[in-house]
Amino acid sequence: MPAGGDSPGEVLVDRDAIQTEVARLAAQISADYGERPAHLIGVLKGSAIFLSDLMRALTVPVTVDFISVVPYGPVTASGVVRIRKDLDEPIEGRDIIVVEGICASGRTLAYLLRNFQTRNPASIRVCALLAKQCARPQELTLHYVGREIPDVFVVGYGLDKDERYRNLPYVARLGA
Ligand code: IMP
Ligand code: MG
Repeated sequence: MPAGGDSPGEVLVDRDAIQTEVARLAAQISADYGERPAHLIGVLKGSAIFLSDLMRALTVPVTVDFISVVPYGPVTASGVVRIRKDLDEPIEGRDIIVVEGICASGRTLAYLLRNFQTRNPASIRVCALLAKQCARPQELTLHYVGREIPDVFVVGYGLDKDERYRNLPYVARLGA
């Protein structure tokens, strides 16, 4: 383990709390969709662990696809992202739920929603396990949110720092 500011510190959401949120979100989505099939779109790679737990807890008919994006230039500036791996299947006419591990500024999700909208799905909803308490684009609605967390950098349960710590079973603050 590297010492100091680059290793996981204070646990913000422990293993049990995560599972409680996953169960709650799954129950909410299942109640909202009923018999209607939900097409889950995982935003790689941060959503992978959350998505795999969430989909197993859903009682609605589920299909799944993935997308991977990278920010263009300075992450903070434009909110323009490049699609590194696009969806495998069309989403036209489908009820899609975009699944994210964490929403920070919301630029990534706002971009994805604009992009998906042009492909004419029947509906789009967003599910994020974590949402940072920070300013987000007004047009961005997060329909299903697990935990609101402070605007600090976190790792674990799929979330990385330079590709590390995704395997931690809890969410911890980095370097504190
Ligand atoms: P946004 O576009 O600012 O909402 O940032 C979204 C992306 O940045 C997420 O999909 C994550 O990949 C990454 N990200 C933002 N905050 C964190 C964090 O605290 N830990 C790890 N990844 C983060
Ligand atoms: Mg990352």
